[in-house]
Amino acid sequence: MERTLVIVKPDGVQRGLIGAIIERFERRGLRIAAMKMINIDPKLACKHYGEHEGKPFYPGLISFITSGPVVVMVLEGNNAIAVVRATMGSTNPANAVPGTIRADFGVQTERNLVHGSDGPESAHREIDCFFAPSEIVEYSRDMERWIYA
Ligand code: RTP
Ligand code: MG
Repeated sequence: MERTLVIVKPDGVQRGLIGAIIERFERRGLRIAAMKMINIDPKLACKHYGEHEGKPFYPGLISFITSGPVVVMVLEGNNAIAVVRATMGSTNPANAVPGTIRADFGVQTERNLVHGSDGPESAHREIDCFFAPSEIVEYSRDMERWIYA
């Protein structure tokens, strides 16, 4: 089982889409291993989005992600990183395929509702940024055998 970090960004929280967004992941069969609502402070924002430092959109990205509460979670499943990225859709919602979260709920790159780790290394790093090991719950569900052969 692979783990990935997902964030419902401030626009998703403010627009009342927390449930709708989480439902997309949950109904695909991904398992929620950790979840909490927090305000991201500038220091944590810079750590999380460090790879984008120096890019023109970086200041706006940091001010946006710190602008209001977010819901941050660890999702688990086979190929969870790729499954989450496909469920989110392209970075720019205008180019995202209908049926993806970003296409169905958004129109602009800077308000694209959701974050998902882009690879195994960033997933590890990002999960460590937001969660202590004791906050990640290990369990299985009876229905797992109906999701995975
Ligand atoms: P994320 O990290 O949030 O899951 O998004 P992503 O992998 O699809 O896109 P990434 O390239 O990592 O960019 C991170 C976030 O920065 C904002 N962005 N703005 N104005 C722009 O050109 C621009 N490019 C990126 C987006 O909010 C993007 O999700
Ligand atoms: Mg990214």
